[in-house]
Amino acid sequence: MVVSIASDHAGYDLRMTVKKHLEEMGLEVIDGGAVSATEAFSYVEAGKKVATDVVSGKADRGIAICGTGIGISIVCNKFKGIRCALCHDAYTARMCRQHNDANVIAFGGRVIGSAVALGMIDAFFEEEFAAGRHAVRVGDISSIEEVNFK
Ligand code: RB5
Repeated sequence: MVVSIASDHAGYDLRMTVKKHLEEMGLEVIDGGAVSATEAFSYVEAGKKVATDVVSGKADRGIAICGTGIGISIVCNKFKGIRCALCHDAYTARMCRQHNDANVIAFGGRVIGSAVALGMIDAFFEEEFAAGRHAVRVGDISSIEEVNFK
């Protein structure tokens, strides 16, 4: 599996920790965004990078990190085909896969610690989409995209 990860400056330190964890999991990582925690980098550009990699098929999943996770999750969800979930713990990370078939996870480098983030990553990659009635809901989301994303 190929994973695209990007962050702004506020998510840089946590991104480095998560990137190392992904590599240890044996995943292929496409890394993008801020080059340090001190040099400003827009969360909009970082979100565009992750979303574009996933929509184009270059990556199977995405991880998007900014200060709160809010701005970058909003950006990712502006892309047709992206279901980006802003998560705060392993439970929400697990459920966004199981019920929402999320293909991008977002979180905040100023909000959660590295142990919680890595627990979220494990849950996000372990959990399968439950399909069934949830596939109907996800299909309904896609129908909205067909109307609103020209
Ligand atoms: C950067 O200061 C901050 O605004 C950004 O990381 C993010 O939290 C926005 O939603």
